[in-house]
Amino acid sequence: MKTNLSVGLGKLKLNNPVMVASGTFGYAEEFRDFMDLKKLGAIVTKTLTLKPRKGNPAPRTCETPAGMLNSIGLENPGLDNFIKDKFPFLKKLGVPVIVSVASEEEPEEFLELVSQLDKIEEAAAIELNISCPNVRGREGLISQDPDATFKIVQDVRKITGKTLITKLSPNVTSIGKIAKSAEEAGSDAISLINTLTGMSIDVGQRKPKIAVGIAGLSGPAIRPVAVRMVWEVFKKVKIPIIGMGGIMDTDSALEFIIAGASAVSVGTANFINPKTSLEILSGLKEYLIRNRITEIKELIGSLKA
Ligand code: FUM
Repeated sequence: MKTNLSVGLGKLKLNNPVMVASGTFGYAEEFRDFMDLKKLGAIVTKTLTLKPRKGNPAPRTCETPAGMLNSIGLENPGLDNFIKDKFPFLKKLGVPVIVSVASEEEPEEFLELVSQLDKIEEAAAIELNISCPNVRGREGLISQDPDATFKIVQDVRKITGKTLITKLSPNVTSIGKIAKSAEEAGSDAISLINTLTGMSIDVGQRKPKIAVGIAGLSGPAIRPVAVRMVWEVFKKVKIPIIGMGGIMDTDSALEFIIAGASAVSVGTANFINPKTSLEILSGLKEYLIRNRITEIKELIGSLKA
């Protein structure tokens, strides 16, 4: 039986819905010996800022029940070094590359980042990371405020015709309201969820296990929250959703698709088994065949609720 796994994110067409999440896959080169990267639906880069960043002090990660905490603090080589050193490998792969960007302090930095990326034909899409919980010195996140979300997406929309994806934080009261703001401002797609803020304590030392204290929780522990948020957003917006948060296997990817995600991003699982995304891709094909479904699109938002 023939199956069709292609999906659309705005005008960006993916051969299949399985992507790898920002910050869990470096700039892909590290994974080249473990898997056939060409089979991925898309690759999302580690978030870039204009200037290089060293990130937060160590320890920056620790394991938690069914998950992990991270406070990397957006360590990255900066946009220019990325374009010079990392992008040449990525663009040869023939897989859509979604470049994730964030501002360090002022939201206006997004405009500079996006105007430079707009000139690069092989950058298939831009993800606005307005939801990283690990950068200090800012009053709240842009994605915690519907008006601030609207403004930055609207400003960026004016300067690029590329597919624009807005990445949202789960650390909010009404995720639907924030997603609606991004849609109304011109975002082509929404990705969610970024990490939930959390804390873990070394009771012997009475110190946080992460140097800066509070960090972002990911992994299967957060999956039910993420699936719930995808479902809420699916009911609220018409633009496609990229679902993520603790996807470990085919069934967890299916949960997101059935809740309303057009594509899924594998994150924390990449640290355990770098081939997880491709195993999920095979699993999705098998699921379609077993259930006599020809198009994966038929499954999106097909929850019987
Ligand atoms: O700390 C970090 O670099 C995490 C980024 C994010 O969650 O977006």
